[in-house]
Amino acid sequence: MSTTLAPGSRTARTIFAPIAPNYDRWSAWLSMGQDPRWRAEMVAHLDAPPAARVLDVAAGTGMITRLLEKHAFEVISLDLSSEMLGVARSRGATAVLATAEQLPLKSAAFDALTFGYLLRYVADPLDTMRELTRVLRPGGTIGMVEFGRPRGIWRPLWWLYTRLVLPGAAVVAGRGWWKVGRFLGPSIDGFVDRYPDADLIRLWEAAGLVDVRLARPSLGGGLLMWGRRP
Ligand SMILES: C[S@@+](CC[C@H](N)C(=O)[O-])C[C@H]1O[C@@H](n2cnc3c(N)ncnc32)[C@H](O)[C@@H]1O
Repeated sequence: MSTTLAPGSRTARTIFAPIAPNYDRWSAWLSMGQDPRWRAEMVAHLDAPPAARVLDVAAGTGMITRLLEKHAFEVISLDLSSEMLGVARSRGATAVLATAEQLPLKSAAFDALTFGYLLRYVADPLDTMRELTRVLRPGGTIGMVEFGRPRGIWRPLWWLYTRLVLPGAAVVAGRGWWKVGRFLGPSIDGFVDRYPDADLIRLWEAAGLVDVRLARPSLGGGLLMWGRRP
């Protein structure tokens, strides 16, 4: 894997390495049980054909990968963190250590592609989306899970949760989680400020995707997107 990582991806590699062993349990707890639901909803609406060949990018410990495998898809899990990917591999995933920005994979090789919690880490989300689209075959589908930011009266409560409750609870989760707990709120805010929903849809279209649609589950705390390569 190339060692010239963008600063965001270097951050990702640093913060996820120590939390890999207990990522699955604590990520579900710290999202109050919401993010497992978001992954399941994204996969359920991926619209991939039976026995599809699927690439799960930023696969981490393989939580989306395992949902895809339940649909009997043939899945490859890709991530830049050897620690996160090591957990996925130990559970039987076919794993590739690489960055989303430069996939070491042939064009048009996959029927579908998924990614969870990736775009906040890459230097140029449009370039990355183009690279993800490149490996999809024409007609192939793509699905994303990301954090969102609730609107209206829920927004100040979300702010309190991400700035006070989350970092506090993350201390209990143990080594490494304190950093993640403090990083997450500002990271989500920064991304949502840069890419409101309409801009994100336009970005996916600019990357060459069509039928782009978006859902905001859990009062907007989650963000799901789907699209298709024409
Ligand atoms: C919050 S975890 C999410 C893992 C998994 N998708 C899930 O739903 O649980 C984010 C993952 O993105 C990976 N990641 C961040 N930037 C990346 C990049 N540029 N290329 C590949 N993986 C990346 C990190 O290593 C980490 O495993």
